[in-house]
Amino acid sequence: MSKFKYTEEKEKEFQNIASKYPKIDAMMLPALWLVQEQEGWVSPDAMVFVADKLNKTPIEVYEFATFYTMFNLKPIGTYHIELCKTLSCMIMGAQDLRRFIKDTIGIEPGQTSSDGKFHLSEVECQGACGGAPMIALNHTYHENLTVDKLKNILEECK
Ligand code: FES
Repeated sequence: MSKFKYTEEKEKEFQNIASKYPKIDAMMLPALWLVQEQEGWVSPDAMVFVADKLNKTPIEVYEFATFYTMFNLKPIGTYHIELCKTLSCMIMGAQDLRRFIKDTIGIEPGQTSSDGKFHLSEVECQGACGGAPMIALNHTYHENLTVDKLKNILEECK
């Protein structure tokens, strides 16, 4: 039995999405995504909750959650910086952004700052190549970045 529960709002979202699926056990992705929206990550306890909800075993949920890199399997910082590392962004200066983040916040991809505020991930193309280089900050895209623009964005988070 899991201690995790969706909030009332997330439970409503779950039911709404479920009404559009022919079979409840096909709802693995949205069910996990709702967990992550609520908690910021997907805990083992939440996986048990999802398994109960979808009539799956916890190991089936675990296999699914660990396959997709978009699911955080550990708590991450308040601000999740997803830095695109694919070709257009790389050519247009993603390495400068990465260096700036390392020099100012002190984190490399996969790390969370010591104050728990920022977490950096390097991700593949986000479909915003025309605005390269770009980051997603808690899923909001910031495009055509320079180090100065990134500095201003991160200062607003402090
Ligand atoms: S290469 Fe960065 S968004 Fe496409």
